[in-house]
Amino acid sequence: MRFVVVDDHDALSRSAADELAAVVAAKLSSSVLVATGNTPMGMYAELAERRRRGRFDASQLRAWQLDEYLGLAPGDRRSLYGWMRRSFVEPLGIPDGNVARLPGDSADPEAACAAFERAILAAGGIDVAILGLGPNGHLGFNEPPATTDSPTRIVDLTPESVASNGPYWGGADQVPRRALTVGMRVILNARLTLLVVSGAHKRDILARAVAGPISPDVPASLLRTVPNVVVVADRAAWGDLPMGSAPVDGR
Ligand code: PGA
Repeated sequence: MRFVVVDDHDALSRSAADELAAVVAAKLSSSVLVATGNTPMGMYAELAERRRRGRFDASQLRAWQLDEYLGLAPGDRRSLYGWMRRSFVEPLGIPDGNVARLPGDSADPEAACAAFERAILAAGGIDVAILGLGPNGHLGFNEPPATTDSPTRIVDLTPESVASNGPYWGGADQVPRRALTVGMRVILNARLTLLVVSGAHKRDILARAVAGPISPDVPASLLRTVPNVVVVADRAAWGDLPMGSAPVDGR
């Protein structure tokens, strides 16, 4: 696990964009697992700006949706697919044929999850997983407790996740209680994982993820069982984690 600790959210967005851009420059057809949530939005805007200036080419990139609420009709304002399109797919000019939607409205969502995971494997796996950190330590909607071999599946959201997602949609009562998520076993096999973490409200859970016990109770701590994970955090999130416990890249 490598740590990039930077001054603020803008610097985090630039550093995270640098990490992704380096992979995509080496392999234009990279498969990217795309998180929504507030944290990576600045990173996506930074990548879109680089594209406008001709410095980032996403025309061959393949975007895979990380998670979705169960049972939402296509076009529902709460759809995470819609959020991924607005924030990542469209600003980066990714062709529709390169975008994989996790179909929360499928008649057989369990089968759809299995098919989605098979499609990722058939495409050669994930080159870069972009992940935020849930206040309960979740990755995607891999809620605690989570195991390293969990498949892409339907999950019940924890009260913490419902509460933390409420502000996006106008209150906790607007948040569906079940969701689809790409599983830990896909995430842990990504060739590079970027965990982006911003803000003082993430300080405690980040400390548990990178310096506490490796435990199913903190799904993000399972990232420490694999190589090629980069944690990009701002100082508000990093807090006073002892520098000795983690090498810090002071960009
Ligand atoms: P956030 O969400 O980026 O909006 O903090 C992260 C998460 O809950 O996974």
